[in-house]
Amino acid sequence: MSNQDKLVIFDTTLRDGEQSPGASMTREEKVEIGKALEKLRVDVIEAGFAIASPGDFESVKAVAEAVKDSTVCSLSRALEKDIEVAAEALKPANSGRIHTFIATSPIHMKYKLQMEPDKVIEQAVNAVRIARNLMPDVEFSCEDAGRSELDFLCRIIEQVIDAGARTINIPDTVGYSVPDQYGALIGNLIERIPNADKAIFSVHCHNDLGLAVANSLAAVNCGARQVECTINGLGERAGNASLEEIVMTVKTRSDFFPCEIGIDTRHIVPTSQLVSKITGFPVQPNKAIVGDNAFAHESGIHQDGVLKHRETYEIMRAEDVGWAHNKMVLGKHSGRNAFRVHLQGLGVDFTDDESFNSAFRAFKVLADEKHDIQDSDLLNLVGHA
Ligand code: KIV
Ligand code: ZN
Repeated sequence: MSNQDKLVIFDTTLRDGEQSPGASMTREEKVEIGKALEKLRVDVIEAGFAIASPGDFESVKAVAEAVKDSTVCSLSRALEKDIEVAAEALKPANSGRIHTFIATSPIHMKYKLQMEPDKVIEQAVNAVRIARNLMPDVEFSCEDAGRSELDFLCRIIEQVIDAGARTINIPDTVGYSVPDQYGALIGNLIERIPNADKAIFSVHCHNDLGLAVANSLAAVNCGARQVECTINGLGERAGNASLEEIVMTVKTRSDFFPCEIGIDTRHIVPTSQLVSKITGFPVQPNKAIVGDNAFAHESGIHQDGVLKHRETYEIMRAEDVGWAHNKMVLGKHSGRNAFRVHLQGLGVDFTDDESFNSAFRAFKVLADEKHDIQDSDLLNLVGHA
C-alpha cells in the first residue's frame, strides 16, 4: 500500500467545458464522453447543471445511468430548488455528488448577488444542509474565491464544513491569480480553518492569463487534493486547466508532486480526439500531450538523439498517453540518420554512400520547396515509385 496522498481528478468538460461558446453537446454526445471519461478512470465527472434546462437535466440523468465507476456530479446554485433538481437527476448514479456554490468576492456579493456577506454565509450553510439531507457527498464552491478576502473565506468555509460539505472548492473564476499567490491562498486556508482536516480542498482555475495549469499545480503543492479540469482545456472564455497537462505533470514529475493519480493515461489521446470531434473545437498542433506535434521531431539533431536514445529529447512516452508511437517528421531541418531510417522503413536500403548522398541532397532541395513531404515523394525521389 502506498502512503502517498490521492489526488482526485474532477472533470468538468461536460459542464464548464460546455460553457465554451459553441461547444454545446447533445445528451447522447454527453453520454459518449462520460463513458470515455469513465474509461480514463476520472474520479468525478461533472455532468452538467441540472436546473439549467430540461436538456441539461436529462443529460445529467443519462450520464448518471450510464457511468458506474466514476462519481457523477451536478452543479447547483445555493438554492433549495436547484439542489433538489440536481439530486433528482443524480438518482440513478452509483455514486452521486451535489456541487453547490455561491459567490464570495466583494465585487460579486455587492453587484451581482446584492447581498450582505453574513447573508451569503447563511445561504451557503443552508444549501449545504439541504444537499446533505439528500446525498452524503456534497461539494461547496466559493465562486470568485481568487478575488475573495481571506478572513471571509475562512469564516464561510468553516461553517459549510460544519454543515457537512466534504469537498471545498476554491475557484479562480476569472483567471486572475498567479501561482505563488494562489498556492499560498490554499495553504493559508488549510492552516487557518480549524476543521479543514474534515474536507478535501479543491482547485478550479480558469485560463484567462494562461496560468490555469500552473495555478492548479502550485495549489497541489500547498495541499489541494482535488483538481477540477477539462479535456483539451475546454471551458468558459479561455477555458479551464487541461486534464492532460495536470495528469501528465503530476505523473512525470512524481519526484516533485507526492500524489497518486488513478487515471489510465493510455486513454488520454483518444478522449481528447473524441471531445474535439464532438465539440468541433480543434486541438492546436503544438498543444502539450494531445497536439499532433507533441511527440514529433523534425530537427536533425533531435532526431539523431532520439534514434540513439529516446530520453535525450523525450520526457514522456507517446504510447503512455495513447499515441501509437512518436513521430519523425522529415522536413528541411531533418538529418541523415532520420532520412536513412525512414527510408529503411519504406523498404529502401542504399547499397553505397554515393547513392545515399545524392538522395539526401535531392531530399533537402525538395524539403526547401515543400512543407509536407509524403512517403510517395521520397519513393519518387529514389526511383522506387
Ligand atoms: O469558475 C467557477 O467559479 C465555476 C464554479 C461554478 C465552480 O465554474
Ligand atoms: Zn469555472
